[in-house]
Amino acid sequence: MRVPLVSLAFALLATALPALAQTQVALTPPMGWNSWNYFAGKVSDKDIRAAADQLVSTGMKDAGYVYVNIDDTWEGERDANGVIHPNSKFPDMKALADYVHAKGLKIGIYSSPGPKTCAGYEASYGHEEQDAETYAAWGFDYLKYDLCSYIDDVMVKQAPHDHAAQMRLMVASYDKMGKALQAAGKKTGRPIVLSLCQYGWDAVWEWAPELGGNLWRTTGDIEPNWDRIYSIASQQSGLESYSGPGHWNDPDMLEVGNGKLSLAENRTHFTWWAMLAAPLLAGNDLPNMKPEIKAILTNKDVIAIDQDPLGKQGQHAYSDGEVEVWTRELQGGAMAIAVVNVGSDRYATHPFHLNLARIGLAGEQTGKDLWAGEEIKLTQGMPLELPSHDVLLVRIDKPALSHSM
Ligand code: GLA
Repeated sequence: MRVPLVSLAFALLATALPALAQTQVALTPPMGWNSWNYFAGKVSDKDIRAAADQLVSTGMKDAGYVYVNIDDTWEGERDANGVIHPNSKFPDMKALADYVHAKGLKIGIYSSPGPKTCAGYEASYGHEEQDAETYAAWGFDYLKYDLCSYIDDVMVKQAPHDHAAQMRLMVASYDKMGKALQAAGKKTGRPIVLSLCQYGWDAVWEWAPELGGNLWRTTGDIEPNWDRIYSIASQQSGLESYSGPGHWNDPDMLEVGNGKLSLAENRTHFTWWAMLAAPLLAGNDLPNMKPEIKAILTNKDVIAIDQDPLGKQGQHAYSDGEVEVWTRELQGGAMAIAVVNVGSDRYATHPFHLNLARIGLAGEQTGKDLWAGEEIKLTQGMPLELPSHDVLLVRIDKPALSHSM
């Protein structure tokens, strides 16, 4: 009997789907909090518990922030059997994971494929399977794996002057940990998200998904200042097609609420990350968060742009002098438009004129201004006056497209 190909495909899909649904993680960009951007090397068990408490009490958990991620400097020594132990800042990792889980949250950990982490603590080289099993036994749901000492201690040492061989070693190290995490997660029934942190080297977006990478840093480290955030946002152009459900470009953790960023800059930073379908890992001091920062981090309309189930990363559509227009396609034919004044100043008498035709739209559009929380009508050539480093973010559920698109 000849089975029509389409029915065969459906039958296969039906049997494959339940398994996929159980094991697939990061179907939308991971959301949570990470200790590094604010606490750096000072982070302790107490800070992680406080962060978990705060995610719940501030409403951030309800807004979608789930992962509480311990970054570098938790590591202690290995025992005689090679098992890694936390240092004195983290008395009991299993108890900590249980505490975080009891709040309906998930917990993440950090290591490096090299012998040492970036901050010089014990890392996973030669102990990959063992560490993956330890993390799984403690109950961890997420690993950030940061290249650091692997560069000099392994890549350069083993393949001096041979860059291609060095890159192969790097890929192999992530492959090794990816497999170890999958095996460990299978045993416990708790899948572990793999976050690659190797600063975008060797077009990581091309090979990370095959190794089970769920997100990968695309650049060097973020800093809480406008120039760095703008530079990172600009470096995402061209990477749009590599991102999607289960595997995301990661422009680094959020600095919203950190440093001396102005309110406009915090808003724009968060908007860009949402337009980029970026992981939203807050990195601020949650117990001392100001109301206006909480309002940015919990804006559900903006989070919905980031978490749009279609998972299509947005793009820089066009620039007009110092104003940039970014667009993102959303599920059901909806669209997000972000207009950003990236300049440090602008004459108020010469406003920017929005060119709807350049982003494929025809005629008046009705949408929602997501930062003002109100309806907005966009028209061809309309003048827009944006303060320096500020943004207009609009969601249009039913855009009127121009025929040529
Ligand atoms: C690197 C990473 C940062 C952070 C530190 C910790 O610089 O890129 O995100 O994890 O290491 O040492």
